[in-house]
Amino acid sequence: MAIQTVVFDAYGTLFDVYSIGALAEQLYPGQGAAISVLWRDKQIDYTRLITMSDPHRVEGSRHYQSFWDITRSALLYTLARFKLDAQAEHVEALMGQYAKLTPFAENLGVLQALKQRGITTAILSNGSLDMLNTAVSSAGMTELIDHVISVDPIRLFKTSPESYGLVQKTIPLDAQDILFVSSNGWDALGATWFGFTTLWVNRQHLPHETIGPKPTHTGHDLTRVLDVLSH
Ligand code: LAC
Repeated sequence: MAIQTVVFDAYGTLFDVYSIGALAEQLYPGQGAAISVLWRDKQIDYTRLITMSDPHRVEGSRHYQSFWDITRSALLYTLARFKLDAQAEHVEALMGQYAKLTPFAENLGVLQALKQRGITTAILSNGSLDMLNTAVSSAGMTELIDHVISVDPIRLFKTSPESYGLVQKTIPLDAQDILFVSSNGWDALGATWFGFTTLWVNRQHLPHETIGPKPTHTGHDLTRVLDVLSH
């Protein structure tokens, strides 16, 4: 059966998390790129710390905080780590821009092409729903994404199987009949382990993860989705 459903990761895949580096550079000259990298790494680190430390998975994590709150905490850690002044107006400016991250240039065109082909589209993200809806609408994607799915209701971040399983609660298909697309190598691996057909959009030309199976497909930008669905 040809795949008719594509689920995207949000941060790093649809929205450029490193685009924040330009504003960070204005606010903290000479440190913009380093801030954007450590901010992202620490944000993901906190999601794993929280979900791995959860002793009661069925009821959801006691340590859970929303991805928005984690993003702010990761920024505060990053500024402290570089011994930079976390003045409130800088923190608010960076968080404000994080809410409306720049999408990658080709993304809107790819989503429009998918809609023209009648493909069902969704997002599955660690992001909280309000955060995702703001990013989707400021990128002009509201009409192009059929379902925005957040892990927030189950309080377990990716790469927990419960988080990937949320997709099938909204779109009841076998996992292999869903193409899961992520630019994050770890997310592509988690989704492959879960059983999705996967596409790793390896924007940074990184090596494959050295554990686990390779993703079903790889590419360097989102246009690869269109090739994968044509075959
Ligand atoms: C997301 C982040 C982790 O789930 O990329 O959107």
